[in-house]
Amino acid sequence: MDTVSFTSAMARVPTPVTVVATYGPDGVPYGFTASSFCSASLDPPLVLVCLDKGASTHPAFTAAERFLVSVLGRGQHQVARRFATSGIDRFAAGDLRPLELGLPGLPGASARIACTLHSVLDAGDHTALLGRVERTFVGDRTPLVHVDRRFHHPAQDRPASARRTADPDSRSQPPMQERAFPLIFADRVGATAEFYELLGFTRQSQNPPEGEPAYIGLRRGTTELAVVSADWPAAQCGVPSAPGPCFEMFVLVDDLDTTLKQLADIRVPLLRAPADMPWGERIAHVADPDGNPVAVACAIHS
Ligand SMILES: Cc1cc2nc3c(=O)[nH]c(=O)nc-3n(C[C@H](O)[C@H](O)[C@H](O)COP(=O)(O)O)c2cc1C
Repeated sequence: MDTVSFTSAMARVPTPVTVVATYGPDGVPYGFTASSFCSASLDPPLVLVCLDKGASTHPAFTAAERFLVSVLGRGQHQVARRFATSGIDRFAAGDLRPLELGLPGLPGASARIACTLHSVLDAGDHTALLGRVERTFVGDRTPLVHVDRRFHHPAQDRPASARRTADPDSRSQPPMQERAFPLIFADRVGATAEFYELLGFTRQSQNPPEGEPAYIGLRRGTTELAVVSADWPAAQCGVPSAPGPCFEMFVLVDDLDTTLKQLADIRVPLLRAPADMPWGERIAHVADPDGNPVAVACAIHS
């Protein structure tokens, strides 16, 4: 079996993306990105991660008494890249903090699994570290997945607490002829997409995939929306964008007060206080990052 055939086939196997970290006896933190992480036993609870025998962190992990696995989520692929980069201080960014068992972990991870080292097994050019699970943490962030040599995240990323049993975002895409969506022209594309993510939209696509986005496709159930750089109409069609608001997005939520509080917490301006409408809706208006009005509404509960 040649290496290329083997690695090409294995690249098709979706894996998690984790950062495994520990402290050396001198108190220095060590960590590496690992996609070879999986569970190994239920009783006792054991997990397994394979570490290259040639890795700079190999001596520290084989001698460590414990390690903490942070399962990376949406938006954390830069952390994965950093912890896979040789010859840099991977902890210099300060985003890993002492967490479970006092070990370095990522506070915003999708999950964390803290282990004591159970055994160290020879696995060819790698060493399999078997960890006995001592503590776990489950976060809200959708886990990153590594497949076809790229990072992906499943479409649905709303907090578990906000998910209903039949999550509308987990439905497959409607047929082509039932799809249509507006493009919102925004000065701040990323910030505007994040604003809609707060209102339950999920990022589906981004162009370019890395760096400052010019286009972000979003979806909420069967509703689609794209946020596009404000110079798009002029650049593509020779039509300058009109000054002032030219659309109003109307977003229905389960609980208006909770949503308005979340938005107020991140200083989203309230343009119009909630008011009960005779047709049975309670509506407030907030401003998106470019100042466009967005109606946020819920049904009036009698
Ligand atoms: C997505 C991804 C997954 C990786 N998974 C593993 C892994 O499971 N085991 C491993 O030893 N190295 C893995 N690596 C490589 C290490 O993170 C790291 O680059 C390697 O240990 C070299 O580090 P060094 O500079 O400390 O020697 C992975 C890298 C990436 C980008």
